[in-house]
Amino acid sequence: MFQNKEIKQSLTQQETPFYFYDLELLTRTLDAAKKAADKRNFHIHYALKANFNDKILSLIQSKGYGADCVSGGEVEKSMEIGFPAEKITFAGVGKSDKEIIAALKHKIFAFNVESIQELEVINELAEQIGEKANVSLRINPNVDAHTHHYITTGLDENKFGVPNSELEKAASVIKSCAHINLIGLHFHVGSQITDMNVFKSLCVKVNEWKNFFEERGTYIKVINVGGGLGVDYKNPDANPIPDFEAYFDVFDKFLERTAQHEVHFELGRALVAQCGTLVSKVLYTKSGVKKNFLILDAGMTELMRPALYQAYHKIEKIGEIEADSKFMNYDVVGPICESSDCFGKEVELPICERGDLIAIRTAGAYGEVMASNYNLRNEIRHYFKEK
Ligand code: LLP
Repeated sequence: MFQNKEIKQSLTQQETPFYFYDLELLTRTLDAAKKAADKRNFHIHYALKANFNDKILSLIQSKGYGADCVSGGEVEKSMEIGFPAEKITFAGVGKSDKEIIAALKHKIFAFNVESIQELEVINELAEQIGEKANVSLRINPNVDAHTHHYITTGLDENKFGVPNSELEKAASVIKSCAHINLIGLHFHVGSQITDMNVFKSLCVKVNEWKNFFEERGTYIKVINVGGGLGVDYKNPDANPIPDFEAYFDVFDKFLERTAQHEVHFELGRALVAQCGTLVSKVLYTKSGVKKNFLILDAGMTELMRPALYQAYHKIEKIGEIEADSKFMNYDVVGPICESSDCFGKEVELPICERGDLIAIRTAGAYGEVMASNYNLRNEIRHYFKEK
C-alpha cells in the first residue's frame, strides 16, 4: 500500500517520524473479529496495553468491545473514553492499593487476580469501602506458547497467575472472603501465537480447571482465555486481517461449556497491529567497512520491539518503485546511541537517498505505547487515514 505516488505525497507533508494509522483497516479488522465472536456468543475485551491512542480507543469502544486494563491509568482512560464500567476488567500481577480502591469505586466488571495474597488484599480493601469485588482467578496453566520467551506467560517459571499447587488453597481462601465474589477463571499463555494447537492445549487445561472448581461447589460463570492471537509481520499486505474465524473456532470446538458460561477474550495485537506503520525519513546514508547503513530519524525510542525482542518488522521504501530501480542491502538503524538501535539488518531496498520516506510496518500494537523519551527525544506524532 505504500508504493504509490498519492500516499507518498500525503505522507511527505507530515513532519517525521510519526505513526500512521489506517482507521479504515482498523474498522474492517474490528468488524471481522466482532462478527466471528458474536456468532459464537464470545465476548472481547480489547487489551489497552497494545495501543491506547484516544482515537483508536474511541473506535474500538464504539464497536461494542470491552476493555482489558493492566493499570489504574488504563482503567481511568477506559472510563474517560466511555467504555461502560461493566465491560472493564483489571489485570496485572502488581496492582497497588490505590489502584484497587479506585477500580472498586468505579464498580468495574472484574479483577483478574494473580495470587492468594492479592485475593486477601482486595477482600480487605473492598470491606473497608463497603464494596464487593468480582474476581476471576488467573491460573498459570503451564502451556508453552512457542513464542519469544519475553512474551511467554503461561509456564511454571513465569511470574503470572496462581500456580497449580496453590489452587486448592486459593479455592478455600475465596470461600472465606466475604467481600469477594468469584465469577470466573482467567488464563493467558503468551502473545504473537500463530500455532492454533497452542490454543487447543489451552482449552484442555481450561476444561480441567473449570471442572476442578465446579467439583468443589464453585460455579464458574466466566471463562477468560486471554489474548495472544498473532499477526503476519512478514506479509502485512497479503494478510492484513488475522483469521478470527479459525481462532474462535478452536475455542468453540474444544472448550467444554454450557449456555450459562460466558467465554471472554482479551485481544490486543490481533486487532491493532496491522493498522499502524511507523513512518520515518532517511537522514543519512553511510557505507561502513562491511555494511551500508540507512540512518533514520526514528529509532528504538519510537519503536523498541526490534531492539527488545529482536522482532521482525517489514521495512519498505515509500513511493513508486520504477522497473529499472536498483536495489541494495542496508542495515536500517536509528539515531540513538545504542548498537541495538537497529530496525533490520541486510534489508533489501531500492537505493535510498537522504530525505526518502521509509515505512516500518505492523507497528500498531506495542509500538507507540512503548515509546520513550530516552535521549530527550520528542513525543511521537500521529497521522490518521480515515478512508
Ligand atoms: N491478556 C493478558 C493477561 C496479557 O498479558 C496480554 C499481553 C494480553 C491479554 C494481550 O495479548 P495480545 O492479544 O496483544 O497478544 N510488548 C510485547 C507484547 C507483550 C504482551 C503482554 N501481554 C510485544 O511487543 O510483542
